Amino acid sequence: MSTLAIVGAGAGLGLAVARRFAREGFAVAIIARRPESVEDLVARLHGDGHRAAGFVADARHPDAVTTALDRAAAELGPVQVLQYSPAPAREFMKPVLETTVDDLVGPVQQSVYGPVAAARQVLPAMRAAGRGTLLFVNGASAVRPRDAVTGTSVAFAAESAYARLLHEVLAPHGIHVAQLIIPFGIGDGPPGHAPEALADVLWSLHTERDAFRTFAEPLDACGFAPTAAGVLDRRDTPSA
Ligand SMILES: NC(=O)c1ccc[n+]([C@@H]2O[C@H](COP(=O)([O-])OP(=O)(O)OC[C@H]3O[C@@H](n4cnc5c(N)ncnc54)[C@H](OP(=O)(O)O)[C@@H]3O)[C@@H](O)[C@H]2O)c1
Repeated sequence: MSTLAIVGAGAGLGLAVARRFAREGFAVAIIARRPESVEDLVARLHGDGHRAAGFVADARHPDAVTTALDRAAAELGPVQVLQYSPAPAREFMKPVLETTVDDLVGPVQQSVYGPVAAARQVLPAMRAAGRGTLLFVNGASAVRPRDAVTGTSVAFAAESAYARLLHEVLAPHGIHVAQLIIPFGIGDGPPGHAPEALADVLWSLHTERDAFRTFAEPLDACGFAPTAAGVLDRRDTPSA
């Protein structure tokens, strides 16, 4: 049985992706910080008849990520698909002129150190097997920095660069690295914004193994509009 590991899984996108891959025969490792949430997600997956296990870890701590993924592989089998998708914290989202060095520690830990630790933990087995998928999920600030969400704008950009480099060097080795940009609030409107619809997109990124970056919806369809300064700005409720 193949294993999907989700670093940063909750009741929204995480659970939907877990169910989507589990329906295809994957065992699922749920990794997040709150034990009660992790236990709840695993119980729901078991209730659906799926194989799943939970591991408590904070993605901001590389050693915790490494340990969780190591335990997941030992319990469920080698990770064939890794999704990195911890929800950004509110405190990551400050205007640029209010953002200090200290304010960037959390975003960089979560969106740079965490992904690097996660990728480096799963890649040896993927490379030995000659197959694997790494899925990175981000909001629009990964590609369009916005003043209101400076922490994610800076750190998602770094995560994007790292993931794109992985895409380039790993493709010849049978490992597909993809990034999904979600420029809207998940579950906030049309059917395409539902976690289940996005889970279908992530499944297709794993199976179709094509481009690095996919937009869940074009940015200009999601309220991103040019400002007088020529910068893209989003004026409605922001997602990072
Ligand atoms: N929600 C949106 O509107 C939206 C919009 C655009 C993009 N996205 C992207 O979609 C993904 C999240 O989807 P979702 O919002 O539906 O989330 P979800 O899968 O329902 O939950 C994500 C989980 O991430 C976990 N998390 C947060 N910080 C963490 C950390 N430091 N270490 C480990 N786990 C952590 C939280 O669980 P614990 O508290 O238990 O750790 C949270 O429940 C992210 O990649 C995000 O960038 C979301």
